[in-house]
Amino acid sequence: MSIIKANSDSIAQAAEIIKKGGLVAFPTETVYGLGADGLNPIAVAKIFEVKKRPSFNPLILHISQKDWIKKLTIYDDERIDLLIEKFWPGPLTLVLQKTDLVPDIVTSGNPTVAIRMPNHKVALELIEKSETPIAAPSANRFGHLSPTLAEHVKKSLGDKVDLILDGGKSNIGVESTIVQFSEGNFYLLRPGGLSKEEIEKIIDTQLSLKINTTNPESPGQLPYHYSPSVPLLFLNEKNLKKNSDRKIGVLFFKEKNIDFNFASIKILSPSGDIKEAAANLFKYLHEFESENLDLILVEPIKEEGLGLAIMDRLKKASKKYD
Ligand code: TXA
Ligand code: MG
Repeated sequence: MSIIKANSDSIAQAAEIIKKGGLVAFPTETVYGLGADGLNPIAVAKIFEVKKRPSFNPLILHISQKDWIKKLTIYDDERIDLLIEKFWPGPLTLVLQKTDLVPDIVTSGNPTVAIRMPNHKVALELIEKSETPIAAPSANRFGHLSPTLAEHVKKSLGDKVDLILDGGKSNIGVESTIVQFSEGNFYLLRPGGLSKEEIEKIIDTQLSLKINTTNPESPGQLPYHYSPSVPLLFLNEKNLKKNSDRKIGVLFFKEKNIDFNFASIKILSPSGDIKEAAANLFKYLHEFESENLDLILVEPIKEEGLGLAIMDRLKKASKKYD
């Protein structure tokens, strides 16, 4: 895919791509982002496909107007408003309780969502013209460095993106600082372009450290790795026999005929489309949780492409019960 200089025409073209469910790499003041319509689950699934990440990771929703925060999150604390007032647009990402408007694939099934308003003319105009929050991780492949130039994106993601908007060099060059607000406390999840001290000064509150890597041995315990509360196992003869007297919800990858009286049946993608499957995964797991089941049995998926990330999540969920 070619790199196009960002101007009002090319940004309008990029916004059309976003609206149609495509992928656009765009500049922000921190690093380049790989963007998709944040309210379209299939479009968001494409991000994971292209990043080639072997697991899901919750994404940041990028907004161009501060009022979007009210539609996407729920909070009741004036200190949040102070942070927004002072630091948006800018390199501060806030993690707050999400509303139902936010698709589960954006948050990898978590009840919280990360939001930021980038301080970059091109990014803001793209979001505005797309008329939707843009979900975007840094526009690099898994394990590669975060891109600060359009050429970096091209090198890392090549032809996998529908359009790369060139807005020059990202002048901050490191990712945004991520702060989570939860039950009255503020946590620093990732140090970044805005210093901890500046944030603490504005809210007159200390940030507690809760950096992603503090407890690598038990990632399952961290709030951003969702697992269903109902026991989950893979669907096979043994597990089916052993549990035949229990209320089972079954999760099929595609349309299937099995002679068994399941309490609930869900199909990730009737046609067997892996993007659709990824887009539905967390939503369906949540639905099972509210169906009073004893057990969820899931059909294993081939571990390639997005199937790798789907199976990673399911294996982690099943490990607890195997
Ligand atoms: O500067 C930035 O933040 C760049 C530009 C493109 O905006 N974006 C970026 O996205 O760095 P990404 O996906 O590479 O990193 C986002 C981080 C991930 O480590 C993810 O785990 C965390 O944010 N995150 C997102 N949503 C979260 C949530 N609900 N709870 C906890 N962590 C979350
Ligand atoms: Mg990244």
